Amino acid sequence: MDKKFIRNFSIIAHIDHGKSTLADRLIEYTGAIDKRLMKDQLLDSMDIERERGITIKAQTVRLQYTADDGNTYQLNLIDTPGHVDFTYEVSRSLAACEGALLVVDASQGVEAQTIANVYMAIEQNLELIPVINKIDLPSADVERVKKEIEDVIGIDASHAVPASAKEGIGIKEILESVVKYIPEPKGDINSPLKAMVFDSWYDSYQGVIILIRVIDGELKVGDTFCFMSNDKEYNVDKVGVFTPLAKNVDKLSAGEVGFVISGIKELKDVRIGDTLTDPKNRTKEPFPGFKHVKPVVFCGFYPVDTKDFEDLRDALEKLSLNDSSFTYEPENSAALGFGFRCGFLGLLHMEIIQERLEREFDLNLITTAPMVIYKVYKTNGEVVEVDNPVKFPNPGEISYIEEPIIKATIIVPNEYVGNVIQLLQSRRGFQKNMHYMSSTRVILEYEVPLCEIVLDFYDKLKSITKGYASFDYEHAGYREADMVKLDILINGEPVDALSIIVHRDQAYYKGRDLVEKMKEVIPRQMFEIAIQAALGNKVIARSTVKAFRKNVTAKCYGGDITRKRKLLEKQKEGKKRMKMVGKVEIPQEAFLAVLKIN
Ligand code: GTP
Repeated sequence: MDKKFIRNFSIIAHIDHGKSTLADRLIEYTGAIDKRLMKDQLLDSMDIERERGITIKAQTVRLQYTADDGNTYQLNLIDTPGHVDFTYEVSRSLAACEGALLVVDASQGVEAQTIANVYMAIEQNLELIPVINKIDLPSADVERVKKEIEDVIGIDASHAVPASAKEGIGIKEILESVVKYIPEPKGDINSPLKAMVFDSWYDSYQGVIILIRVIDGELKVGDTFCFMSNDKEYNVDKVGVFTPLAKNVDKLSAGEVGFVISGIKELKDVRIGDTLTDPKNRTKEPFPGFKHVKPVVFCGFYPVDTKDFEDLRDALEKLSLNDSSFTYEPENSAALGFGFRCGFLGLLHMEIIQERLEREFDLNLITTAPMVIYKVYKTNGEVVEVDNPVKFPNPGEISYIEEPIIKATIIVPNEYVGNVIQLLQSRRGFQKNMHYMSSTRVILEYEVPLCEIVLDFYDKLKSITKGYASFDYEHAGYREADMVKLDILINGEPVDALSIIVHRDQAYYKGRDLVEKMKEVIPRQMFEIAIQAALGNKVIARSTVKAFRKNVTAKCYGGDITRKRKLLEKQKEGKKRMKMVGKVEIPQEAFLAVLKIN
């Protein structure tokens, strides 16, 4: 197709401002799919995405639109994941576009992720078309939101399109704006092949599927290409586009977006952001920089039932086929037995993987407290990266420690600013900036240690602002911090899987709170259980779970056998997420009690 008639764009928005709903309407309006097949939020293909209402994997669709100027355009709508854990995927998806629809909720206005996404789009030089969505709501205020877009983001909102994705208002105007304001792709069909990989996944029938944006040249079935990062060569078996159902085409040429299937066996061989070229006629410059995304949050996954260990390994292997950004390696805990240490891009990513393991593979897991990576500088000059409390060096060997820091942006209505500042201070936050966004809302910028965010920050923020605050963050390097290892002893025995790393100033109150929280979740057993928190050899807090006084089955008089069985069944049910540690049964909640401390 002539590049003049191609438009590549994506939709960026704060969560829940209506990105997926708008994508559905655009697909429906351009008639890309039969109404009967149209499911809500078609682009979010995985069940779990549909249930949680978030988009995990970037997807893309080709639409045909005949504009008022009489020409038929090829519109490639590239879906981007909206969550901060997947920032790198967002930036690569945006790099495949020339423009973006910036969707802002007309009743809520600009939020933290709106700003974060806009910065990424501006970095990629994208043309932005503001879409003010949800104008059907009584509380919609289009003029206020336009002003906010201009004041806070600093882009012209005079051509913003008022719309309601839900009611189908403004859809044609949006498509006309795409054609009019978003530039045609650059690039030259006669130059050597140059294409950027912006997504890939594993399909059990087709193997690895990669999504590319062709910049120069073209790629046909039967061609040979190579990845510029590793020079591995492959033959093209199929090229195609999503409409949104997969459709094979003969070739993809400069400016176009589509998928390639080429017998690649492992997802690991494909890197997002890499460049494809023709090994015999190479492009001079690869697409600027691809990055190896590294996990930042780690935790242990252990099967409740030790005999499920191999099943867990299989499940992790299968999941990693579709998500090369999480890592896993076997680990051994004295308390929990054999399990895996897993690394994630963020807490949401961790929850998604955990949920998929339990749901799709029917596994029953114990998860240990999430932890960030500390850089420990030892007195002997060695530097170790520690992602597991068990591997934390002895205090005598440590010269100093550095922890990861993030820059947080929080947007909050005036009346909650005090609460939010208090929360950030309690999380060792450091204010960088604070200003009024309008007469009713404030933007706060803070530097905060990542470990303080990983544990429950977002939930706390929501609860102290009645859900009105929005939050986004980016990584901001490492900084020195006085961290110590807090051990937990059960009946005098340290339980390795319960150890956590905390800041020295917080060790006492966290220790006290933690043993109290554990006491609440560890069920009474036939004997007394002592729970202690210790720094090195020094016990700093203690609580006790009293022993049972009665045998629960005693009251059944030994007469009614079915009743007795029922009661035992019931106890068994309650046991599911428990792990025997020594003689003591410890439930999942105790391993994550650290998430509950104030
Ligand atoms: P993520 O994919 O999770 O980032 O969210 P999103 O931005 O895609 O939002 P989504 O399309 O899932 O919409 C969020 C909620 O807003 C849903 O309940 C939609 O039904 C609703 N919604 C979307 N557009 C409109 C609209 O124009 N008017 C109204 N009233 N509700 C809308």
